[in-house]
Amino acid sequence: MAWLLALPAVAGPAEVERGRRIFDAGGCLACHTDVKAAGPPLAGGRGLKTPFGTFYAPNISPDPDFGIGRWTDADFLRAMQGGVSPTGAHYYPAFPYPTFTRASDRDLLDLKEYLLAQTPVATLSRPHEVAFPFSLRPLLWFWKLFNFRPLRWQPDPARSEAWNRGSYLVEALSHCGECHTPRNLMGGLDRARWMAGARLGDEKSVAPNLTPHASGLARWTARDIAAALEFGLTPEDEPIGGEMDVVVTWSTSRLAPTDRAAIATYLQELPALPAAAVIGRR
Ligand code: HEC
Ligand code: HEC
Repeated sequence: MAWLLALPAVAGPAEVERGRRIFDAGGCLACHTDVKAAGPPLAGGRGLKTPFGTFYAPNISPDPDFGIGRWTDADFLRAMQGGVSPTGAHYYPAFPYPTFTRASDRDLLDLKEYLLAQTPVATLSRPHEVAFPFSLRPLLWFWKLFNFRPLRWQPDPARSEAWNRGSYLVEALSHCGECHTPRNLMGGLDRARWMAGARLGDEKSVAPNLTPHASGLARWTARDIAAALEFGLTPEDEPIGGEMDVVVTWSTSRLAPTDRAAIATYLQELPALPAAAVIGRR
């Protein structure tokens, strides 16, 4: 992938470097770039299939006309934490802002600095292919009323530092739950079955149960989990495929080792729940 080499060196100011780590944890590149077709970074992604239609993550390069080059800090925070565009339109939750809403202002503004330091790409974002009535953005207001709480993540002083770091990464940035948690009929996350596994939007693959239940990761050690996030292999050395391959390549393999260990700590301390979706069952 030649364009990878063309990414500017990130030797810039401390904010940009901090922003890069948020960017990697948030897995922004994997959705906002057509990685399979080696498209230009941040210029817009391949289709994300959901039961409501196919969504295309837009151009978030710093181009002033086609990307976010003209956005203010307030615009950016409102998009990431409120799911609202600079013109006041509601975003579809195919953009995981129900997760990003938990991230701190500081982290998100560093992330914006990182995005602005990337190469602008002057291409128009591809429109979503979503059927009526889901094509009506004002209806998203109703969806948000039931499925979205714009609350920042709060530390739990009774837990370890590693657990808190893992909790922040998973719940505010890495959006593991957006795939590994089942959804209700409205497409909102079923928090009562947090991380218990789910069938993905294309209905063909299952994101397995990540809780420490016998049907989940009960037999995995913390090192097994951290290694899976780094190398994309199960403890039996089987490759972890599908959507997870993309997550490992563009997000978790790029995290600091202490961050992968923190995610493992957090997952191991989740309440054990039976699997909410099983491979091979429809
Ligand atoms: C799972 C895929 C996915 C991931 C991961 C993702 N996004 Fe997006 N993003 C989308 C989609 C889809 C939209 C379009 C939403 C809509 O049109 O309502 C979007 C929209 C946006 C917008 C609004 C752009 C505009 O023109 O209005 C911004 C800003 C954005 N994303 C930034 C980010 C950042 C920063 C990250 C990483 C922290 C990120 N996204 C991660 C899918 C994703
Ligand atoms: C875009 C959807 C998606 C996201 C986001 C995602 N996963 Fe996954 N994950 C999957 C799928 C699908 C599989 C199953 C892959 C397979 O069948 O080979 C999987 C598999 C796994 C496995 C292997 C489990 C097993 O029993 O083999 C682990 C561990 C895992 N994911 C952890 C995570 C963590 C931690 C995060 C957040 C940092 C995360 N995933 C984010 C979709 C996702």
